Amino acid sequence: MINVTAPAKINLFLDILGRLENGFHSLFMVMQTVDLCDEITVDKGNGGISLTCSDERLPQDERNIAYKAASAFFKATGIEPNAVITVTKKIPFEAGLAGGSADAAAVIVGLNKLYGTELSTQAMCEIGLTVGSDVPFCIKGGTCIAQNRGEVLSEVKPLKECFIVIAKPEKGVSTAQAFAAADSTHIYHPDNLRMLDACSRGDFNAICKHASNVFEQVIEVVERIEIKDVMRSCGALLYQMSGSGPSVFGIFDSKEEAEKCVRELKKSYKDVFLTSPVNYGAKTI
Ligand code: C5P
Repeated sequence: MINVTAPAKINLFLDILGRLENGFHSLFMVMQTVDLCDEITVDKGNGGISLTCSDERLPQDERNIAYKAASAFFKATGIEPNAVITVTKKIPFEAGLAGGSADAAAVIVGLNKLYGTELSTQAMCEIGLTVGSDVPFCIKGGTCIAQNRGEVLSEVKPLKECFIVIAKPEKGVSTAQAFAAADSTHIYHPDNLRMLDACSRGDFNAICKHASNVFEQVIEVVERIEIKDVMRSCGALLYQMSGSGPSVFGIFDSKEEAEKCVRELKKSYKDVFLTSPVNYGAKTI
């Protein structure tokens, strides 16, 4: 049996540049993996693919993205499907944290090890992209500029050690609906070049200054203002929504301030996490 850890991601930057011919949106993002992780196991069974997930609200069959990732792996490698998958959820879903994509990434990485197929990261990313736009980044991990659908990845300097508090309001957001909302309104673009410059220099303060997420212009999450207020009052250097939301993250230099922020937010919210950036994606343990 292979154990795989599947880190969540946050978006330090997210701009929608336009629409691609395939219907997806062309994006400019800065993505970061954090040490809030789902745990996945993969093993061989008696043929076919079976999946159990610790969260009963998620489908336990071929509708689950982790199952789809296994199908895509077997199709791409020509191996007869045979996998028993378990998913232990820690990352909240419909949260803007790539929880599903992280699981899919972990399944591909795990099956690559289980079957000794020795696929390159690039080859695994290509399989991953067939099931979700964020899967390639979840395989690669670290700090990356992600463009086009999100699969064109350029590594930049790792984010310096810091503390990232993540709070997820109760109600999830559908990514498809978020993109539809963005299509129906005018988006004011943030300063992509300054962010690119900050990332290529690894300038933490400049990254915090130029961070932005255009989904905040179209996704209304009432709790966002309150969460940001708490983060600001606790000393966060940056507070922003991740992906299409609704999760909000705050970045702190000081662990004590971050812990205080977690204590404050836990008074009102169930899903509050104290995390740190990591320089890896889905990996076997
Ligand atoms: O690829 P994924 O399944 O994560 O996409 C979820 C939703 O977000 C889909 O509706 C897709 O059309 C939309 N999306 C998009 N452009 C992207 C990534 C996702 O329109 N670059």
